[in-house]
Parts: sequence; C-alpha cells; structure tokens
Amino acid sequence: MPHVITQACCGDASCVYACPVNCIHPTPDEPGFGTAEMLYVDPSSCVDCGACVSACPVGAILPGHRLPENADRFVDVNAGHYGLSEDETGAPGARFPVEQHRRLPLAPIRKPKAIRGGPGRVDVAIIGSGPSSMYAADELLKQPRVHVTVYERLSTPFGLARFGVAPDHQSTRRVIDLFDDIARHPNIDIMLNTDVGEDISLDAVRARHHAVLWAGGAPTDRALPVPGVDLPGVRSATQLVGWYNAHPDFLAPEPNLSTDRVIVIGNGNVALDVARILTAEPDGLEATDISRDALTALRASTVREVVVAGRRGPEHAAFTLPELIGLADGTARVWVDPAELDRWPTPDHPDPTAAAKVALLHEISQRRRPEEPFIRLTFGRTPIEIVGDDRARGVRFRLTGSDAEETIDTGLVLTSIGYRGVRVPGLPFDETTGTVAHRAGRVVDGGDPIPGVYVTGWIKRGPSGFIGTNKTDSGETVASLLADAEAGLLPIPR
Ligand SMILES: Cc1cc2nc3c(=O)[nH]c(=O)nc-3n(C[C@H](O)[C@H](O)[C@H](O)COP(=O)(O)OP(=O)(O)OC[C@H]3O[C@@H](n4cnc5c(N)ncnc54)[C@H](O)[C@@H]3O)c2cc1C
Ligand SMILES: NC(=O)c1ccc[n+]([C@@H]2O[C@H](COP(=O)([O-])OP(=O)(O)OC[C@H]3O[C@@H](n4cnc5c(N)ncnc54)[C@H](OP(=O)(O)O)[C@@H]3O)[C@@H](O)[C@H]2O)c1
Ligand code: SF4
Ligand code: SF4
Repeated sequence: MPHVITQACCGDASCVYACPVNCIHPTPDEPGFGTAEMLYVDPSSCVDCGACVSACPVGAILPGHRLPENADRFVDVNAGHYGLSEDETGAPGARFPVEQHRRLPLAPIRKPKAIRGGPGRVDVAIIGSGPSSMYAADELLKQPRVHVTVYERLSTPFGLARFGVAPDHQSTRRVIDLFDDIARHPNIDIMLNTDVGEDISLDAVRARHHAVLWAGGAPTDRALPVPGVDLPGVRSATQLVGWYNAHPDFLAPEPNLSTDRVIVIGNGNVALDVARILTAEPDGLEATDISRDALTALRASTVREVVVAGRRGPEHAAFTLPELIGLADGTARVWVDPAELDRWPTPDHPDPTAAAKVALLHEISQRRRPEEPFIRLTFGRTPIEIVGDDRARGVRFRLTGSDAEETIDTGLVLTSIGYRGVRVPGLPFDETTGTVAHRAGRVVDGGDPIPGVYVTGWIKRGPSGFIGTNKTDSGETVASLLADAEAGLLPIPR
C-alpha cells in the first residue's frame, strides 16, 4: 500500500528530495508549490521504500497499511491530487505496477555550491531564530567558510514553531528537533535575550558581520477596522495564542472565559487553532506543553460555543483542507448548521481542494450537533461593529450578498484576520504589505540593493505559508547572499 501524507505536513519539501522515484508533488520547482495546502504522494508511482518517512521532520508520512483510522481520508486526498479515482487508490494489500509510473521530470536537487571568491571567512548575522532563520542557517552552514550568529530577542529560540503552533499539534512541534540539530552545528552561535534595535543596534550588528539577514517575522496582528474594536473583551488571536503558549509578551491579562460564547472573526488556520483549544477537553491538553496558567483557566471556562465567522462562502474558507480534516476526524467537536450551507449554491468547483472542503462541510452539517463546548463554523458574515458600552457584548455582521444584518451575543471577541510585519528601524519598509522591500532576498532601497543586507520569512513575503514554506524562501535569500559573497560584494566588517 503506497505511502500517504497526512495533515501534519508543513510543506518543507524534504520528502521530495528523499523520494527516489519522484512521486511527491508539487515540487518547489513546479507551479502550484507556493499555493499548495500540502504535498501529495502519487499512489500509482510510490514504491513503498520509506525514504520519505525518515526525511519528514514532523512525522507526516505514513505507510498506507499503518494509517490510523482518523487519517483514512488522506488516502483519497493524496490520490485525488493526481486525478486518481477511489478504486485506483488501492485496497489494503494492493500493489501498483511499477510500469504504470508516470515519470514526471525529476525534481532538481540544489547541490550547495562552494563559495570560491570573496573573503576567507564569511560572518553572517541572522536576526530572529524562527523557521526562516533556521532554514537559512542550515543552508548557509553547508558552506565550510561561513560562520552564523543568530540574535534572538526571547530567551527561547525558534519563533512561532514554539510560540505559535498549537499545543495539541505535537507532531508539528517535532520540527523543533530539526532546528535543535541545526543549532548544534559548530559554526553557529545563538545569542538569546538580544533584541536587535533595543540591546544592540542594527548598525552595530552590520559593522561586525559581512552580511546581515533579517528574519524577525511579522509579530503583530492586523487590526479589524470596525467601531467598538477597542472595547474590553476584544482580543486578538495573536494575544490568545501567545497566552496559551506562554509567550513572555502575552502572559497577562487573561482572556475572559466566563462567557457562554466566544466569537472568532476570520476563518484561517489560526482561527481553527484557537477554536480547538478553547473547546478542547482540558485533560487532553495536560500532557502537552500548554501554559499551566492557561490550562487552569480552561478548566474553569464556562464557554459552551465558539463561533468561527468567515466573511466569504465555504468554498473560499481560509482554513486548509488538511486542518479541516483534522478537525472533522479528530477529537474536536465541530458543527455546521445545515441551514448555513443552504445559503451557498454548490456548483462543481474547478478547484478540487475547495470542492473537497465544501463536501466535508456538508458531511459535518449532517452530523448530530455535538456536546458543548463545540465549534460552530459560519460563513458569509462580514463584521461591521463590536456592540457594547462598557465592554464587548456582541458582534454585528452584514450577511454577504444581502443587506440583512445579524447580531450575535458574546462576552469575548477574538480577531483572527492575519498577522502583520512591523517597521524595522534602518530598513526600507512597505507600509501596505508590512514587509521589507527586497529583490530575491536582497534588501533594496529605492531599487538599489543595500550591500550585505538580506531578508527572509514572513517579514519578506508577508504572513502566509507553513513552517516549511520558509525553507524554499530562505533558500532563495541564501542563494543571493552566497552569490554576492562570491562576487566580492559583501562589506568588510570593521
Ligand atoms: C498561531 C500560528 C500557528 C501556526 N501553526 C503552524 C502549524 O501548525 N504548521 C505550520 O506549518 N505553520 C504554522 N504557522 C506558520 C509558521 O509558524 C510561520 O510560517 C513561520 O513561523 C514564519 O517564520 P519566520 O521565521 O518568518 O517568523 P517567526 O516564526 O515569527 O520568527 C521570528 C523570530 O524573530 C525574533 N525577533 C523578532 N524581532 C527581533 C529583534 N528585533 N531582535 C531579535 N529577534 C527578533 C522573534 O522573537 C522570533 O523568534 C503558524 C503561524 C501562527 C501565527
Ligand atoms: N496548521 C497549520 O498549518 C497552520 C496553523 C496556523 C497558521 N498557519 C498559517 O499561517 C498563516 C496565517 O494564518 P491566519 O489564520 O492568521 O491568516 P489567514 O489564513 O490569512 O486568514 C485570515 C482570515 O481573516 C479574514 N479577514 C481578513 N481581513 C478581514 C476583515 N477585515 N474582516 C473579516 N475577516 C477578515 C480572511 O478572510 P478572507 O479569506 O475573506 O480574506 C481570513 O478568513 C496562514 O498561511 C496559515 O495557513 C498554518
Ligand atoms: S515511500 Fe518511497 S517511493 Fe513512496 S513516496 Fe516515500 S520515498 Fe517516494
Ligand atoms: S512536512 Fe515536509 S517532508 Fe513532511 S510530508 Fe510535508 S513536505 Fe514532505
């Protein structure tokens, strides 16, 4: 039975390079890689060698015969990507004849090129220690002449891999083991508790290194532009995530969980994360590394329903299919009111992922309403006001496609409408996108590259993508940096 990629996929493409028969797609060089919600094994080509299993940092790939029951759906999700029918996905024990392999062009494996020109030793500073930083360091450290110093403002490294990923996604957290391995390389130093801009200036860091690579992420949330958003009882998902993950910036104040209903505005994967944690059985979180204060507060919570409010229709839901499958088939209690979906016509959708999301939402809507507390997914609700005098008491929505309005009562509103980068003193910043201006990772000012200054990760491309997306992103930046080193374009440290 062929191997199957499951919901824990974070898209770093390590499996692509490990697979000897090139049956995992899209590869980073194929169209669609940047927008794919996960990678997929072609079951008609997989020879069951298992090489991808050990390459995967988050344990997302399993042999088909060892799939847990709640991952069954992924057999079809993987095969569906290749247009294979259910029959062709293979019953247990079925084998796929090797001659049927559709040999697509082999994914080019980027071999690290040794730098020949430039300075003898190349000192690179990376600001931030999140996924984009660690993938960049990994790539740089393949060069024996490169020494990397990582500056991290917190006392604990690895950014959102540690302080963002939900505590009930322990397999995703395993990527931290990979980052720990990278951090053990003899040519890397990690300076914790060092905020560049506060504890040391960017100019001082630049003066000590041939190159500086900014990988500080997009640390703040986008503001919801509606009246009432500043009322007590309105928090951002960023704050809630930071609180349950014990991020030192977000330990207090505690969110108000003495309310029947929480409304989450936005329906991306972060919205699903917070909804799952707020409705989870606290005993099930006991063994995770959730903050102990948050666990105590969750035990005392009176929340009975978490409404996740998307502004567009179900086929445009921002959450990904793998996360919806995890929600539907895992321990979470999730529900969609059938009347909710009746509002949306369901034409044959040209995008199979959107079609699969809509089909699964219909399946969920046919289930019995779960026990409280549960997650209610709603669609077509654009928030127009947070109502309340002294504190938030409800959200007024306009229903998409009509002039109708609806107010839903609540004692806690969580805005989860995406993250945003903040201006980095000393670097050109695009206020519209919240990113540092760059060309292929070289920071540019007025169109000209600033010698020796680079950028990667969320502050480079904006706050989207999975942990592994940062690997290809950082690969591009490091390629630019190494080309500049070889061409002798890096400034000499003072
Ligand atoms: C809540 C949440 C959950 C997520 N869950 C998943 C998931 O389950 N699976 C998945 O694949 N992806 C997930 N993602 C996406 C993933 O976390 C991001 O793609 C990734 O973390 C972005 O990496 P980054 O290095 O650009 O930024 P970050 O991870 O934010 O790292 C930036 C680092 O820079 C440090 N820093 C910032 N400014 C300075 C400074 N001035 N000096 C020194 N250090 C500084 C910060 O402290 C931080 O450590 C999640 C994202 C969020 C927001
Ligand atoms: N498990 C995982 O793999 C995982 C977990 C967490 C995060 N991540 C990734 O991290 C990235 C960030 O996730 P995210 O959930 O913060 O962002 P996101 O996926 O961009 O979702 C943002 C949501 O906010 C909505 N929105 C934006 N502006 C709004 C407004 N003014 N009013 C109402 N709604 C508004 C968007 O609606 P529209 O779609 O209509 O614009 C969308 O539903 C994503 O790429 C995500 O996949 C991955
Ligand atoms: S088991 Fe082997 S052939 Fe199958 S996807 Fe993994 S690496 Fe490729
Ligand atoms: S996390 Fe990486 S290695 Fe694992 S399945 Fe996804 S792309 Fe492949």
